[in-house]
Amino acid sequence: MSSTPIDIAVPDIGDYQDVTVVDILVAPGETVTADQSVLVLETDKAALEVPAGRNGVIETLAVKVGDTLSQGDVFCTLEPNVSDEETRAEPEPTQAAPPEQTPAPVAHGPAATAPLGMPPAGDDPTSVNAGPAVRKQARLLGVDLSRVTGTGKGGRVLKEDVEAYVRDALANHTGKPEPQAGIPAIPDIDFSQFGEIKRQPLQRIQRLSSAHLHRAWLNVPHVTQFESADITDLDAFRKSAGEEQGIKLTLLPFLIKAVTQTLAEFPRFNASLAANGEHLILKKYRHIGFAADTDAGLVVPVVRDADRKSVRELADECAALAGKARDGKLAADDMKGGCFTISSLGGLGIRGAFTPIVNAPEVAILGISRATVQPVWNGREFSPRLVLPLSLSYDHRVIDGALGARFLLHLVKQLENLSQLLL
Ligand code: COA
Repeated sequence: MSSTPIDIAVPDIGDYQDVTVVDILVAPGETVTADQSVLVLETDKAALEVPAGRNGVIETLAVKVGDTLSQGDVFCTLEPNVSDEETRAEPEPTQAAPPEQTPAPVAHGPAATAPLGMPPAGDDPTSVNAGPAVRKQARLLGVDLSRVTGTGKGGRVLKEDVEAYVRDALANHTGKPEPQAGIPAIPDIDFSQFGEIKRQPLQRIQRLSSAHLHRAWLNVPHVTQFESADITDLDAFRKSAGEEQGIKLTLLPFLIKAVTQTLAEFPRFNASLAANGEHLILKKYRHIGFAADTDAGLVVPVVRDADRKSVRELADECAALAGKARDGKLAADDMKGGCFTISSLGGLGIRGAFTPIVNAPEVAILGISRATVQPVWNGREFSPRLVLPLSLSYDHRVIDGALGARFLLHLVKQLENLSQLLL
């Protein structure tokens, strides 16, 4: 028995309007589950996979690649699964019923992750994931599909990928590599001439991150300064407070606290440079992003109004956001509006300082490495102290070296002076 088809509309996608459809993942007649992605929308910051929201069969698709959509726009009709309908015990939707709200989309991007269950692409180098039309196109153009990097879902090779491959090949053949942002491109080399190779297409999030990092690296004149803080007292407090309250209390919420306090003293670090480079936009809010490592790649969830939260609240929120990041459940809003980013590699055990890339349009980022016990001279003797390496990268157009040094020294003071940090 079939049920009445219902309209499926774009759910809440934050402030985004007229977002471009870059991929359609299902066809009419296809059976889908509620959490199965139907469309991929792409903003300048992230790709959003929009799920069906209901179990059933796709009846019609109302969009094509290249169309633009906003919240509430109907993108397909779906014949819901009858048994699900009975379980839901809801009245039969009528023609006049409002479009079905699908769950929040899953975002990917420089500050986002791929959804769980996304198959790792390119595991088998001998099989190429491509449809019949693309295979025909490749045959006509004489392209070996196994050499083409697929940018579709799960590394699927799309027509545009074949076209891009041909363009690159022609550019290299004429000895005129396509320029990338004004710099000469690295030539495409056939590495198989040197030994066995395997092609592994980058996941969507990695491709978006790569474009974002490249933009930041090329646009922002970076300076990185290194310093260290004695966190012996802070760490003792962290451990005892965590035990006392029966919670996992890592260093991260304390770092966020110290950063927000330091930003209050140095508002230039809590700013963005206007695109025309003629003025600074100073922010009166302090939203702090932290880099989180997930199986799908790097994401940067943002703790909003971090300056107004206690260490305990920051700890809870970081744990919740890190959990969502790992499960691929961050919403676009969870990753927007950051003022300053912390990239902590301390939990991974790396002790050396590093040079984080500024998460533009922010103007500074703080890298954290593993704290280690070191002999520190106290004026009379060496004593064992827990020392935390700090790496501060900043946009030299906005911040000069002296200001960078003052910011770092203030941050160290906050971390070394517990009562100042917590009160
Ligand atoms: N020095 C010493 N120990 C540290 C530390 C540091 N700088 N930072 C964390 N630790 C400890 C923690 O206290 C915890 O110890 P415990 O289990 O004994 O309590 C352990 O290392 C693991 O901490 P972690 O799970 O990493 O928690 P966190 O709150 O410090 O960090 C994330 C949370 C999400 C930031 C972290 O898991 C992560 O993903 N880091 C990678 C970020 C990244 O990839 N950056 C690179 C961007 S280019």
